[in-house]
Amino acid sequence: MKIGVFDSGYGGLTILEKIREQLPEYDYLYLGDNARAPYGTRSFEVIYEYTLQAVRWLESQGCRLIILACNTASAKALRTIQQRDIDPAKLRVLGVIRPTVEAVPALTRTGHVGILATPATVSSESYVLELAKTSDQLVVTQQACPMWVPLIEAGEHLNDGADYFVDKYLSELFAKDPQIDNVILGCTHYPLLLPKIQAWFKKPVQIIAQGGIVAEKLADYLQRHPEIAADLSQGGTCQYITTESTKKFRDNASLFLSEAITAKHIELQ
Ligand code: DGL
Repeated sequence: MKIGVFDSGYGGLTILEKIREQLPEYDYLYLGDNARAPYGTRSFEVIYEYTLQAVRWLESQGCRLIILACNTASAKALRTIQQRDIDPAKLRVLGVIRPTVEAVPALTRTGHVGILATPATVSSESYVLELAKTSDQLVVTQQACPMWVPLIEAGEHLNDGADYFVDKYLSELFAKDPQIDNVILGCTHYPLLLPKIQAWFKKPVQIIAQGGIVAEKLADYLQRHPEIAADLSQGGTCQYITTESTKKFRDNASLFLSEAITAKHIELQ
């Protein structure tokens, strides 16, 4: 059986890449719902419905474990799906927020942490609530960045036009709290903007991308759950599925991944 990795679009590839570096032996199935991205500006009901459709599809394709490599889906749909929609004896679904949050208290010196995320993730308050469970010393400030995912899905994120929105959201975040020393990229698309985000900073601020953290936590999870690891096939393969055109997916994904890929089209319903 395979490990499914799901995102609304290309962002989950930043997680998949790190997971495959850490755990190359397993078989992966990546699903990007590019035709309906972005999710981050949609309502709870729609995000939940779309995410559930993706989970059901990945399960039907033989996934034993699914990573919601999307903060928006993790914030809005994960808990309901875990509690109501799946049989944990047959399928486990994990998100990316909890593992990220667990890594933060050890990283910050000032205790002031910034969260950059989609409007849906920000409004869910998931990061604020989860970080409060790890430490009562943290000052957490959120910033919604509604234009970043559309720029990335359109392949415009490294062009000059993106500078305006990088400056806008980072300026707004640091105007709210200048003492922030750690910024979480709380959307799996955002590492694709990393060159511009890093160039913006004039002082040392640690930027936390989730890929490496999620990969390490997954390796740890599989060690703690040998019964799940034993069900996973080890052919080292990866298939890419998109709800958009396969050519568009392949061309854009090849910019993010170090290898050329092929993709297959499906419709989710
Ligand atoms: N990559 C997704 C996340 O981590 C979401 C993007 C979107 O579709 O808005 O939140």
